[in-house]
Amino acid sequence: MSRIYARIAGIGHYVPPARLTNHDLERIVETSDQWITERSGIKERRIASIDENTSDLGYKSALKALEDAGMKAEDIDFIVSATNTPDMIFPATGCLEAAKLGLKAPCFDVQAGCPGVIYALEVARAFIESGIYRNVLVITSEVLSRFVNWKDRTTCVLFGDGAASYVLTASSEPGFIGSCLSGDGSLGDLLKFPAGGVREPASEYTVKNHRHAVFMQGREVFRYAVSYMAKASLKALERSGLSPQDIDWVVPHQANKRIIDATMDKLGLPHEKAYVNIDKYGNTSVATIGIALSEMKEKGLLKRGQNVLIVSFGAGFTWGAIVFRY
Ligand code: ACO
Repeated sequence: MSRIYARIAGIGHYVPPARLTNHDLERIVETSDQWITERSGIKERRIASIDENTSDLGYKSALKALEDAGMKAEDIDFIVSATNTPDMIFPATGCLEAAKLGLKAPCFDVQAGCPGVIYALEVARAFIESGIYRNVLVITSEVLSRFVNWKDRTTCVLFGDGAASYVLTASSEPGFIGSCLSGDGSLGDLLKFPAGGVREPASEYTVKNHRHAVFMQGREVFRYAVSYMAKASLKALERSGLSPQDIDWVVPHQANKRIIDATMDKLGLPHEKAYVNIDKYGNTSVATIGIALSEMKEKGLLKRGQNVLIVSFGAGFTWGAIVFRY
């Protein structure tokens, strides 16, 4: 029997229309367009409207991915949703997205920091390659603007809202060809959202002290991100039987332009081989890679047959990379 591969049949993204520029932020916290641009590469980010939740963004991107795949919601066997900013603790955002799609199918969430997208795609791949499901919808969506402390200039300037979805399908042609997932939970304190769970339930104290927001030791996260994104990329390439030079595009997690450049240097690749759109959207966590891929497809940059490396690092810490032939 010939091998079953998982292949991307469709991709789509949705970002809310409202833009928050660095100059807008200058009026909110003590910062400057120059500092944010030089330190991160970000110029503006999108902000969801008050009546838009993570599942709404995810649903809108899913419709676009289905259209791109030429499929209907009922063609989907399984939904894997990745987010760090769920609508609620439960039910899972994936279930809310399935309901919006009018789909009764198995659905659940993957929560693994920004690399939740890599983990979710790997879950989908495993179900497809094992022959259990044929068509899997992977939804990546975040409304980080409601999870940051707008008085903390070290974090609030970095994040944005957005969503992207992928339809993965079973194919006799590759497809996903190599990957690497990894993590180190002992470093979790460096990047966390401490309150609202069992350890620090919501209280007057947690609200007053902005405990329902992202806490990050940026310099440390930066250091680990560069090292582990490069390592994961090389491992995924090795498992694919490819070298960095065989890759047409690197589509990295968009957390900081300097992290991307340093990772490309470690891979020995020119910076131009990485697709970068952090200037327009900031860090949308799980959604950055899909927004980039979808935008590349719209621009005609992503073509069938190209070898693509996607790689991410984030809260957990978790990290991972996938090499696929588009
Ligand atoms: N505007 C102006 N000054 C600022 C700002 C700001 N928005 N933020 C910090 N500063 C100041 C700091 O207070 C500090 O001042 P000091 O020297 O007087 O103490 C100075 O700028 C330098 O601060 P650093 O933190 O050292 O700046 P750095 O060059 O490291 O850049 C940044 C900070 C952009 C956060 C960087 O460290 C980074 O990108 N880290 C990684 C972020 C990341 O990858 N997150 C990953 C995933 S997120 C997820 O998983 C959900």
